[in-house]
Amino acid sequence: MEYLLAGRSRREFLSTLAQAAAFTLASRTPAAWAQQGISGPNSLKAHAHRAGLLTGFAVDTNLLSDPTYARILVEQASILVPERALKWVPLRPSPDKFDFTQADLLVDFAQRHKIHLRGHTLVWHEAIPDWFDSTVTKDNARRFLEEHIAAVVGRYKGKMQSWDVVNEAILPKDNQPGGLRNSPWFKLLGPDYIEIAFRAARKADPHLVLTYNDYGVEYDNDEDAERRKLILDLLRSLKSKGVPLDAVGIQSHIKAAYPATIGQGLRDYMSAVRDLGLQLFLTELDVNEDDLPYDDVPHRDQTIAQTYTDFLNVGLANPDVKAVLIWGVGDSHTWLNNGPTHHRKQPNRPQRSLPFDNDYKPKPAFFAIRDAFDQRHRSGSNTKKSNPHKADHLGI
Ligand code: XIL
Repeated sequence: MEYLLAGRSRREFLSTLAQAAAFTLASRTPAAWAQQGISGPNSLKAHAHRAGLLTGFAVDTNLLSDPTYARILVEQASILVPERALKWVPLRPSPDKFDFTQADLLVDFAQRHKIHLRGHTLVWHEAIPDWFDSTVTKDNARRFLEEHIAAVVGRYKGKMQSWDVVNEAILPKDNQPGGLRNSPWFKLLGPDYIEIAFRAARKADPHLVLTYNDYGVEYDNDEDAERRKLILDLLRSLKSKGVPLDAVGIQSHIKAAYPATIGQGLRDYMSAVRDLGLQLFLTELDVNEDDLPYDDVPHRDQTIAQTYTDFLNVGLANPDVKAVLIWGVGDSHTWLNNGPTHHRKQPNRPQRSLPFDNDYKPKPAFFAIRDAFDQRHRSGSNTKKSNPHKADHLGI
């Protein structure tokens, strides 16, 4: 009797092992996703669509040749954004040359699969090419900026749903007027670089949704409260000068195990943006889980999923949020593993920040994001009267 029991449990054990192995292999096929219930009507993009949203990922163009990666983009995304390909470093190998190879790969892919695209980003203090400092001066900076924007926006005219025109212009600790960051462009052109960029983008593609994108507005703490105020001051001043500006990106790099809550501060910020007649996008969503004090994977995955839920329940309650972009697809390629490494508490523990794991299996984070779309659909946020000042460019 005992032997049989033991035999049965051993057989069961072996069969479970075999199933797990088969699942790991098979999880890299579309058929497996269908079994897991995440394709077609169960995909992120289908749930997002019901909630009046576009959704998708930041794309590493080097991975487009991986069929599993490409398949996820096609299955799950209604909008994509290049993680690097449209920044100055890849685009500008030298002062007088443009290299659109990487960006074109993604634009062609998106067009082939009828997926919307965001452009990111025309003006940023990072990803500045090596030749910049010795070449761009106070005298020629405006020409460099305007020519860059005319060439890049012009090339993709009519193909972008929106562009992040200016990225991360606020940094109070730099002690500049208006809390502006003392960035290369600020040093060369003063605060005017912002409106120069927006006007150039409008000129290059009059129908484009022009976006100001920034981080650090999500939490109910003093630091984010100050940033929210400074960003709103900047937006108001741009609007009052008639600068063309249509939308605000909330980067949404949030943290698991962070002491501050996400709530009233973000809600008020979003309604203030809405009152300015601007649309909202959640542009770079991911969860930094470096601070979690335990290693247990299921436990971490649950906490990460809950962090997505807590953020999205606030972030998606505003009807003027029109798109949610997640900053990467699978954990093995999150920028959080090799980006801000010097701040890391657990440098040897790879982060599990994204909706898919290293084998592109959906994790609790995937289902949390999808549930948050459903929650928005149920609560009717997407059907509430949308911003009366702004035509809906998105056609959703
Ligand atoms: C990051 C990318 O994810 C990295 O791969 C790259 O090396 C550096 O930039 N805010 C932004 C994004 O606006 O462009 C950054 O992307 C992440 C922070």
